[in-house]
Amino acid sequence: MRIGVVGTGYVGLVTGTCFADSGNAVTCLDIDAGKVARLQRGEIPIYEPGLEELVERNARAGRLRFTTDTAEAIRGAEVVFLAVGTPPAADGSADLTALWKVVDAIAPHLTPAAVVVTKSTVPVGTCAGIERRLRERLGRDCRVASNPEFLKEGAAIEDFQKPDRVVVGVRAAEVGEVLKTLYAPFLRTENPFLVMSPESSEMTKYVANALLATKISFINEVANLCERMEADIDDVRRGIGHDSRIGFAFLFPGAGYGGSCFPKDVQALAAMARGKGLLPRILTAVHDTNLAQKKVLGDKITAHFGGDLTGRRIAIWGLAFKPRTDDVRDAPAIDLIDKLLASGAAITVYDPEAMENVRAMYGDRLTYAAGGLEALDGADCLAIVTEWGDFRRPDFDAMASRMKAKVIFDGRNLYAPQEMQARGFAYHAIGKAAV
Ligand SMILES: NC(=O)c1ccc[n+]([C@@H]2O[C@H](COP(=O)([O-])OP(=O)(O)OC[C@H]3O[C@@H](n4cnc5c(N)ncnc54)[C@H](O)[C@@H]3O)[C@@H](O)[C@H]2O)c1
Repeated sequence: MRIGVVGTGYVGLVTGTCFADSGNAVTCLDIDAGKVARLQRGEIPIYEPGLEELVERNARAGRLRFTTDTAEAIRGAEVVFLAVGTPPAADGSADLTALWKVVDAIAPHLTPAAVVVTKSTVPVGTCAGIERRLRERLGRDCRVASNPEFLKEGAAIEDFQKPDRVVVGVRAAEVGEVLKTLYAPFLRTENPFLVMSPESSEMTKYVANALLATKISFINEVANLCERMEADIDDVRRGIGHDSRIGFAFLFPGAGYGGSCFPKDVQALAAMARGKGLLPRILTAVHDTNLAQKKVLGDKITAHFGGDLTGRRIAIWGLAFKPRTDDVRDAPAIDLIDKLLASGAAITVYDPEAMENVRAMYGDRLTYAAGGLEALDGADCLAIVTEWGDFRRPDFDAMASRMKAKVIFDGRNLYAPQEMQARGFAYHAIGKAAV
C-alpha cells in the first residue's frame, strides 16, 4: 500500500518505518525541516533501540521517504496516518491545534479512496470532527478511522511489530478490512484485531493509559505509607502481586511517572469528564498524587541537609522519563532539577541518552558528566531518577572514592538496603526505611 504518515516523532517515525519494513511504500511528512533533513541524511533524531537500522534498511530499499512537502506525502496515498503531537492545553484538555492544521493541509491532496487514520491520542469525538471538517473542505465524504497507538518508548519497534492487540475505530466494515490487511504481518501470532466505533477506540487509548497511571499512583501512595509504618513496599508488592487478581505489572514504586503520555492523557480524560458534567475523582487523585510523588526525592534531599542546599553538589543519575529513551518530556528528573536549582544546589547530571535534550533546556546551569562515575566527583549525595540498566550493578567502591559523602537517594529502588548499609552508604529508597 502507499502510505503517508504526518508527524515524524516517536510515534510517526516508528509507524512509518515498521509499515515500510512490511513492504509498503511510506512517505513521512513533518513541518520540522531540520528533522526531515537529518532523516534524509540517514540520521535518527530520537533514540529508540533498533530504529536506526530499520530506517536505514527501508530508506535504502526506497520504501521509506521523508519530506516537508504535503502534496508529495499525501497525493496517491491509500492510507494517511496522523501522528502529530496532542499536548495538554492550560485546562488539561488535549490541544488539537497541530491536528486541525494537518487536516486542513492534507485535504486538497486526498484521493477519494484514501482513509485518514488518527494515530495521535485524541479526545473522543475527534474522528467525527475530522469527518465533518473534511466534508466541509472537500464537499464529499471522506473515510476516517481511529487507530490508537500503544507502543512504549524504549521498546517501540518490538511493541509495534508484535502488538498485544490492534484497536481500530471505523464507521464502515470495509475500512476495517483495509487496516486489517495493513496490520496482518504484525498479527501472525493471532493477537486480536479489535474493530469498534471511533468513539470507543478513542476512549480505549485514554482508559488504558489512565489505568496504568492509576496503578503507579496507587503503589506510590502506599509506598509512602509503608515508609512511615516500618513496612517494606517491596515485600508488600510481592505479597500482593502473586494474587492472580492483582499481578505485578505497573506496581513498582518510584519517583513518579513522566513522559509525553501518562500525565497529559490522565488530564485530558479528566477534562473530557468535566466537559460532560462528571467529577473525575479518581483521575484527579491519580494526577495530584503523581505531582506530589515527583517532589518526594527533592524533599528527602532537602530534609537530609537540614533544609539548606546552598553550596551542596548533587549528582543525578538518569534524566529520561524511563530507560532506553532520550525523552525527557514531563520527566521526574526535570522537577527534581528545578527544585534543587531553586534551592541553590550545584548539580551534575548523567544519562546514557538524554544529555543533549537536558542541555537544550538548562545550558550551563548544570554540569554534564561523561559517565556515571564522573558525575559523582565531589558529590554530597547521589539521586537516582531513571532505572537504566547501567545503574543496577555499579562499582560501589569506585563510587565511594569519588563522593564527598556516601549518601544515595534512590527513586527507583535499585539496591538492597542491607547491602548498601554494609557498604557504608546512607541509602534512602522509596517505600522502605532509610538505612
Ligand atoms: N510517544 C509515545 O510513546 C506515544 C505512544 C502512544 C501514543 N502517542 C501519541 O502520539 C502522538 C504523537 O506523539 P509523539 O511522541 O510521536 O510526538 P512528537 O512530538 O515526538 O512528534 C510529533 C511530530 O509532529 C510534527 N508536527 C507538528 N505539527 C505538524 C504539522 N502541522 N505537519 C507535520 N508535522 C507536524 C512535529 O514536528 C513532530 O516531529 C501524540 O498524540 C501522543 O499522545 C505517543
